Amino acid sequence: MRKETAALLEWYDHHAREMPWRSPPGSRHTPDPYRIWLSEVMLQQTTVAAVRAYFDRFTTRWPTVADLAAAQDADVMAEWAGLGYYARARNLLKCARVVAQAGGFPETYDGLLTLPGVGPYTAAAVAAIAFDQPATVVDGNVERVMARLFNVEKPLPLSKPELTVLAAKLTPQTRPGDYAQAVMDLGATICTPRNPACGICPLRPFCAAQAEGTQSTLPRKIPK
Ligand code: ADE
Repeated sequence: MRKETAALLEWYDHHAREMPWRSPPGSRHTPDPYRIWLSEVMLQQTTVAAVRAYFDRFTTRWPTVADLAAAQDADVMAEWAGLGYYARARNLLKCARVVAQAGGFPETYDGLLTLPGVGPYTAAAVAAIAFDQPATVVDGNVERVMARLFNVEKPLPLSKPELTVLAAKLTPQTRPGDYAQAVMDLGATICTPRNPACGICPLRPFCAAQAEGTQSTLPRKIPK
C-alpha cells in the first residue's frame, strides 16, 4: 500500500463521518449492498445532510431490495419528492426489480454496471464499499484531492483520465471501500474547494500542491 493511502486510512479510522449506511472503519461486517446502492444513488444529487432523512424513510418503509421491488411506483415517486431528477427514481425502481428477480446484487464492477441507472461512479462505489473490490470511485471530491496531491495543472474535464489513473494507483487491495470513503470525506471536510484546511490534512506531507502553494487554484477548469 502506498504511503499516501496508509496515511488516509489512518486518518479515516479516527475521523470518518458517521452515516446511517456506513459500518465503522475497518469493520469486518460487510455493509448491506442495498443500503450502499440506495445511498450512493441519492448522494449523486444531494448533500449528505439532506440525504439522511430520505434514506431513513426509504429504508424504514422498504428495508430490503425485495421490499422496494414490490412497491407501487407512485409510492416510491412520492417518497422521492424533493430529491429531484425523477428519472433517477424510476431507474431506482427498475434496478430494484432486476436485482430482486436475480436474487441479489452482482458483486463485481462489470456486473453492477449492467444495472439500470448504475454508471461508473455507482458501480465502483458499491463494488468497493459493499463487496470489498478494489474498484476506484471518482467524483468531484476525488478529482480535487488528486489534482492537488499531484499538482495536476491540466484543467478539467481534459484531466479526468489522468486523475482517474492517479486515484486508481492509490486504491489499495485491502480496505478499498474505506479508502473510497476516506477520499470523499477528506474532500468534503478538509480538501474543500475554498480555503482547504491544509494545516490538519493527513496528506500534507505528500501534497505537491501544498509544496508549490497552488492548492487554492486547483483543480483548474476550462471555462464553460
Ligand atoms: N459522497 C457520496 N458517497 C459518499 C460516501 N460513501 N462517503 C462520503 N461521501 C460520499
